Amino acid sequence: MVGIQTALAPRPAPTGANEPLSDRNFWRLCDLVYQTCGIKLTAKKRSMIDGRLRRRMRSLDIANINDYCRLLFDGNPSADLELVYFVDAVTTNKTDFFREPAHFVFLQNCVLPGWREEGRRRAKVWSAASSTGAEAYTIAMVIDDYFHDRGGFDYSILATDICTDVLENGKVALYPDHMLEPIPEEFRRRYVLIPRDPARHEFRIAGALRSKVNFQRLNLMDDRYTFDRNFDLLFLRNVLIYFDRPTQEAVLTKLCEHLRPGGYLFLGHSESLVGAKFPLDMVANTIFCRR
Ligand SMILES: C[S@@+](CC[C@H](N)C(=O)[O-])C[C@H]1O[C@@H](n2cnc3c(N)ncnc32)[C@H](O)[C@@H]1O
Repeated sequence: MVGIQTALAPRPAPTGANEPLSDRNFWRLCDLVYQTCGIKLTAKKRSMIDGRLRRRMRSLDIANINDYCRLLFDGNPSADLELVYFVDAVTTNKTDFFREPAHFVFLQNCVLPGWREEGRRRAKVWSAASSTGAEAYTIAMVIDDYFHDRGGFDYSILATDICTDVLENGKVALYPDHMLEPIPEEFRRRYVLIPRDPARHEFRIAGALRSKVNFQRLNLMDDRYTFDRNFDLLFLRNVLIYFDRPTQEAVLTKLCEHLRPGGYLFLGHSESLVGAKFPLDMVANTIFCRR
């Protein structure tokens, strides 16, 4: 009897397992996030950061969050590698297919007919801060659909993000089936693969579109971007909101150099360029054309 009780008794938590994140470490973490990815965290995000890091700590078998901070800050040789996982843990990757649909209506009704009239045969698109690729694959669906009966079209989409997890997800292009809902029926038939086993509750983007999208890691904080300078479309949606004003302006200045004159920039609906001087003309709400 005693033996059974001993076996069932909860294991004592390691010392310091429930120790709260110290104020000093919280502000050091905020500073690290800001210096690394430009994301400005406030005290309101404290429990979110705490929760997300504890998930990461479980996979490292670290019980005390302040020990985890020592791993990042105290000259540990593996700190650089851990920084990649840390960034994966603290970034917010919410995305959707056909998110902010007015952008895709503009693409379909204004941009693509314009390219057709110009006799353009190919285009390069950049989805910067792509998250898992729902944005990039939405663009691919709209372009592919428009040119499907119009002689075809050669296009490529670069999808970049700082978070390595979401890039791996984008390459595999498997999504939970609740993300299917905003994809129009006709597009589902053409571009979505549903597994025979419904218990998997997921779907995959068709190979023809997967081959058009190239996922790469890029930190928008980098001094310069080594990609082509003549993108036709640039989607930078729902990431500027995490940055402060000087960071937003620095990122947009660098990105404008990669958009060809006549190319379009799409920002998220709560993002704006008010008061800033860029070589861009607003052509619709949150859509800009490069001068
Ligand atoms: C909310 S998601 C937006 C995804 C997509 N653009 C959309 O609108 O649905 C923001 C993305 O920005 C990425 N991000 C944050 N800071 C970044 C940085 N410094 N460089 C590159 N990507 C970053 C995050 O990892 C995240 O996947």
